[in-house]
Parts: sequence; C-alpha cells; structure tokens
Amino acid sequence: MTYRSKSIYKLSLVAVICFIKASSSSCPVLECWFVQEKAGRGGGLAAATSQEKSLLHIRTDAYSHSAESQQAPSDINPDRVYFITDPAATLCHRSLNPPRGSVNKPHCEINPFLPQPSTLKWVAPLTDSALSPIYLQADWFSTSIQGLNKQLAISTITRAPTAAQEPNVILSVTSKTVSVQSRLGEPVLLDCGFWAYPPSPLSGSGFAVEWRYQFRGDGRLVLAYDGKTDRLADTQEEGATLDFEGLHRKGNASLILQEAKVRHSGMYICTVYLPYLVAQVAVELEVVEPPSLSIYPSALPLAVHGQTLTVQCEASGFAPLSLELSWEFKGTDGKSRPLGSGSVTGHRQAWDGTYSQSTRLELDTTKLDLGRGGEVTCVAVHLGGTRRASVTLNVIGFSTPSIEDSMAMVGVALVLYGLIKFVSWTFTSSGSDEAGPQEKVMLHFKILQSS
Ligand SMILES: *[C@@H]1O[C@H](CO)[C@@H](O)[C@H](O)[C@H]1NC(C)=O
Repeated sequence: MTYRSKSIYKLSLVAVICFIKASSSSCPVLECWFVQEKAGRGGGLAAATSQEKSLLHIRTDAYSHSAESQQAPSDINPDRVYFITDPAATLCHRSLNPPRGSVNKPHCEINPFLPQPSTLKWVAPLTDSALSPIYLQADWFSTSIQGLNKQLAISTITRAPTAAQEPNVILSVTSKTVSVQSRLGEPVLLDCGFWAYPPSPLSGSGFAVEWRYQFRGDGRLVLAYDGKTDRLADTQEEGATLDFEGLHRKGNASLILQEAKVRHSGMYICTVYLPYLVAQVAVELEVVEPPSLSIYPSALPLAVHGQTLTVQCEASGFAPLSLELSWEFKGTDGKSRPLGSGSVTGHRQAWDGTYSQSTRLELDTTKLDLGRGGEVTCVAVHLGGTRRASVTLNVIGFSTPSIEDSMAMVGVALVLYGLIKFVSWTFTSSGSDEAGPQEKVMLHFKILQSS
C-alpha cells in the first residue's frame, strides 16, 4: 500500500468510526453557559449577571445513563453539571452533537426560571384558579440552544426536585427554520413546534401560542391563539394563520404567511405558554426579490466615431435594498471588459416596498476604446441573483486603421489612379475615329495584347 492510499484508508476508517459514534449515542453532552442575575444587587434596572460554565448530559429516560464518561472537566463546578431527561428526544438532534474535538459547538445558555401566571389576555385563562400547585415548588430552568446547522433553535423549560441536578424537560419549543428566505408573493412557512411532558399537571390543561414581529426595534403582535378556548385572540396581520388541527394534534405552531411581502422581512418570535410556563424561539424571515432590468434606448442608434451616446439601465422591483450596478463591454474580439458603474441614481421605493435604482453611462466613442462596436451590458448584482441586460453598439467612421490597412489603401489608390489614366487615354485616342462599338472593343483588345 502506498503512503497516500494508506492515509485515505485511515481517514475513511476515522469517518466510519465517527459515523457509528454519532448514530449510536446521539444524545449529546452540551457545554452550556449558566447565566443568572447576581445576588445582592437586586432592584437595579441593568441587573448584573454572572456567567459560569456548565455541562448538560442529555438522555431520553432517567435510567439510561449516558455512555459518555461522566467526569466533569476540571474547569466546571460539579454543581453545574446536570443530567437532563428529555423523553421527546428533541435535544438529541444531530445538529447539537458536534464531532469529537470540533471547535464548532452549539450555542447554549441555561438560566434559573421562575414559573408565574401571565396576565396576557390569551394566556390568563390557563391559570384561572388562583392557587399555584405545589408542583411549582422545585428548581426550574430555562435553556436556549442553537444548533450547528444554523437552522435549529430549541428552548426548553426543565424542572428538578429541589437540589437535585436531574431536571426533566416539561416544555420544549423548537424551530427548524431559524433563517428563512422567500421570494416576493410566495407562501411562507415559519417553523415552530412544541412538546409538553404528558404526565406533568401543567400539560393537558391548555396552552397558548403567540407570534410577534420585530424589526429594528419596532415590534407588533402578528397573531395570538388561546388553545384552551380554541380562540384566535388577536390577528393583526392579514394572511397570517396557523394550522389549528396540526397545532392541537402535534404541537405544530408554525406560522403561515399566505403571500410574502417586503414589509414581512424581520424577526418573528414564536412563544408557547403552558400554565405558569413560557418558552420561545426566534425565526428570521428575509424576503428577497432580484431586480428586473431594462435598458434605454432599447436599440442604440448607429454611432459615428467621435460621437457620445448615453445609455440608461433601470433595475426595479428588488428587495432588500442593497444592489451593485455596473457596465461591461464586449467587443468584436469577444473579450469583455468593465466600463465602471456609470452615474448611479438614488433609490426609490414603490408601493409594494420594492426598490428601483438606475445608472446612466456616457459612451464616448473616442475615449473608450470601443472599436467598431460590440455589446454593452448592464450588470446588477443582488442577493437574489445577478441580472444582465445588453444592447448592441455599432460605430462607423472608424478612423484608426493599422499600418497594413494604410499600405493597402495606398496600393488601391495607385491601382485606381492607373486604371483611370489608362481608360481616359484609350477613350481620347479612339474617340476621333468613326468606328462602331464592335471595333472599339477590338481596338482595346489589341492594345491589351500588345502591352
Ligand atoms: C406544520 O404545519 C404546516 C402547515 O400545515 C406544514 O406545512 C408543516 O409541514 C407542519 N410541520 C410539521 C413538522 O408537521
């Protein structure tokens, strides 16, 4: 075996082992930041927080101890090592389980959580009876985790009998589409789902779902649903809905937008409430529409060398705003070269929120080495794709001939001169006699023969 094939063999063996590992023990041990408000500083608006490293061992039932070594690294306080039971295995997603030694790790934060009733109109019915159950007297945590694939976000509420470090997942809210792109006018699905631990006294007595929109500090309610009374409490966005059957049957709380509009771009927060509990995930939507290009004039007039022509290119109907406009020229030699960006105008916004912008190019046929002409192309580079539009340029009176061309022209001129001289001489010499056309031809023939 050569060295090369040996190392390939080793590599594939490593890959196979990794694969087996990843698929056999898929519930991860998560490194997580334990963040809490610092004690003794209470009351301040900007409460100081403390941050400690912690370790979350995930398992699907309390009796299966994870196969991983259970010794905590020395830099982690043993009080911050938790064994979390997640019967739904939501936290066992492969995107939370990086290959061993990988520097890329899921982002994870865990905080102490205080269960409390909500006063929101669509949540309050969940805690109608003013008594809070003894069940709430425990250690509660809220955890938020982002997967390695940048598309998974999970938020959980866990409960541990006081002082035990073995919390159970009571509520989890998940999105598998943390970042969504959509073309204008298409239907959009922003994924969100929840799971509630069935034996918990807090599950089975109703839930509420709320979607909020946030963009640059501007927030609004999109939709709020009271699952206990099966009532849509509030919809402030036309065309926004939920799959109510899927919501009750499978906890599918995905937001459906019938038709993507530019103003829909932004952050959406899916919040799920159980009595006393709340968890949320954020999903970002970007509506991306590439520009349509048009060139004016659509056919360029024939340009005389030395003349300056103006071409304009308009990009319209695009979103988001960022666009790069430029010009290119492709000569008869087939080579393309840039002509710069021209004079780009400011942008305008249309009624549907899309933008337009144009650029004007002065085509100086003497300055720009355009030769006999070619193709002038307007190029628009946009997040939604690159678009091009072209127009043909023809230049006449092309005045920079090559030396060979000039020599040839002199040659042609000389030949022409000789021919004219010759013809005029023939005519003057034969013009006097009265011979018919036939004889004239014969005469020419004779002269040609003799020369
Ligand atoms: C949730 O519901 C939407 C709309 O009906 C559907 O397209 C989507 O596939 C569902 N998601 C899951 C995980 O079932």
